Amino acid sequence: MSATLIDGKPISLAIKDEAKKEAEELLRTRGITPGLAFILVGDDPASEIYVRSKGKTCAEIGFHSVTETRPVDTSQAEVLDLIARFNADPSIHGILVQFPLPKHIDEMKVIEAIDYRKDVDGFHPINVGRLVIGRPCLRPCTPAGIQEMLIRSGNDPGGRHVVIVGRSNLVGKPVLNILLQKQRGANAVATIAHTGARDIARYTREADIVIAAIGRPGFITGSMLKPGCTVIDVGINRIPDPTKKSGTRIIGDVEFTSASEVAAAITPVPGGVGLMTIAMLMKNTVLAASGTLYS
Ligand code: GUN
Repeated sequence: MSATLIDGKPISLAIKDEAKKEAEELLRTRGITPGLAFILVGDDPASEIYVRSKGKTCAEIGFHSVTETRPVDTSQAEVLDLIARFNADPSIHGILVQFPLPKHIDEMKVIEAIDYRKDVDGFHPINVGRLVIGRPCLRPCTPAGIQEMLIRSGNDPGGRHVVIVGRSNLVGKPVLNILLQKQRGANAVATIAHTGARDIARYTREADIVIAAIGRPGFITGSMLKPGCTVIDVGINRIPDPTKKSGTRIIGDVEFTSASEVAAAITPVPGGVGLMTIAMLMKNTVLAASGTLYS
């Protein structure tokens, strides 16, 4: 291996620590404690783990949090009622409905029901639109976390060619819009390559920074990269591994061994981008609590 590891642990810890200090300042100066509400519908084990972990982080850094858990057969109207309750609750500054939701619930309807000023996921169409036109807004946590990882690891995207592989609304499109902004820590020349491309490697080989968010284990290999590039692996794929007690392990969208021979810097999976999402959620919550974004 020749690439330097971009470790998500110290970066995410530093961001959580900043959020904690900002919350202390908000309490001291204005008597506000950031409050985050979680809504979990159904019994998806991964979602339960995520929500528990987010609630634990809130407690660690002095935020108030509440979790409303509902069974899988909960109606869409009941979820919308819960959201309306939290929209009206002044002690709650952020609302996070954990996805995926059961099939009978329309996720877009749920997102649109959240007050955009409390939309700490940055998924509401008002926040999406404001991000595209460069107005202040709550930004999606994983894409914003990717930008922070690049900046804080000395890989400022300014003036560099970033190729994002994957065009999802969760990662690909928002990360493109964040890195395109004419701002410090952004200002990249950004391209999205996706499944419609005849030859994805043609684009990735041109990239100074590759962001892999395709959802296919080990899709990006060393031969698809330009020597000396930076690789950000957003993938979280569970694959069979009989050598593990659980019978599975988590790998990214990048084939780590071959990629790390070619790249100059690379994020690990696990321990990379995945750690940034919760840290940025805490940042968004304290920002929402400050009430300064949309004033
Ligand atoms: N499920 C997986 N990732 C996310 C996320 O970032 N936000 C929400 N609300 N649900 C998720």
